[in-house]
Amino acid sequence: MTDLPPPAYDESELFELAPSAAEALAAELPYSVRFTLRGEITPLQQAFLDRTGYLVFDRVASTEEVDTILAEVERVEAKLIEEETRTLFGVPIWFGRNPDGKRWLQRMGFTSVLSEYLSGFVKHDRFEPVRRLIGDDARIGEREKDGVVFNRYVHAEGSLRPNLAWHTDALRDVFYNRRMPGPMLNVGLHFDRITPQDGCLIVLPGMHTQSAWSTLFSKIHFVTDKPDPNEVKVETWPGDLTVHDGRMWHRVQTSPHTGWKSLRRSMYVPYVVDAYAPKDEHTKTNLYMRLFDWIIRRKTRRMEKWLLAG
Ligand SMILES: [Fe+2]
Repeated sequence: MTDLPPPAYDESELFELAPSAAEALAAELPYSVRFTLRGEITPLQQAFLDRTGYLVFDRVASTEEVDTILAEVERVEAKLIEEETRTLFGVPIWFGRNPDGKRWLQRMGFTSVLSEYLSGFVKHDRFEPVRRLIGDDARIGEREKDGVVFNRYVHAEGSLRPNLAWHTDALRDVFYNRRMPGPMLNVGLHFDRITPQDGCLIVLPGMHTQSAWSTLFSKIHFVTDKPDPNEVKVETWPGDLTVHDGRMWHRVQTSPHTGWKSLRRSMYVPYVVDAYAPKDEHTKTNLYMRLFDWIIRRKTRRMEKWLLAG
């Protein structure tokens, strides 16, 4: 079990790099480069993000923290199942079946609201530079949008969403405003060792600056699932933190493995710059979410029937 990542890129002599030098060096780096998260985002990290639209930070959470977070999610899951909670602050909670056939949490929002440990963890000082990357006035929206989202995927009978086809997060903005939005940085923590063969997060580097036209027409959102010759598979080790610009095309591939070997867990932390709009237990589920929830539940029911019959 000594599957350690390659060392993070050594930036010890590069903290004072001028932007033009950082830009030139970023162009030379392999797409698989891993960075160390420090007190500040370095000029090279900024240049790499500007160029490609993503960054991977080497094991930002320790093994112990990874274990504690996963245990906390299991505790929250048990509570939700026991209390038959179906939505939290208006956001549906999705359950599927795990490889042992048990009811299993697959996606929930506002996770940190139910866990003091998680709430403290996401606010830890080490993430300050990530927050400033989003904006000087950005804040962690623990009770806004979907809050801290926890995802668990597994490739098994009865499991939901083993993959996610190509999409951008910019479609809505393009529809409403007819132009591309500003940077939409997604910040994710990864809890499993995912090799490029395992079906990981896949991105199209550099496409975060694509036009509205390209966003609308170069692929069909959530449908096109064909590999792209320029795609990059983002490999992760437990505790890694990724930042990716949602304006670029990205997808998640189905794991070729089945059962527990295909397990993939991630947590996305919302950094918000919009006007403060907290949600609470009185927040109604919006139409978009209701529709999505209806589709997911129908799928689950059909699968359950099929599993019971089999
Ligand atoms: Fe996405």
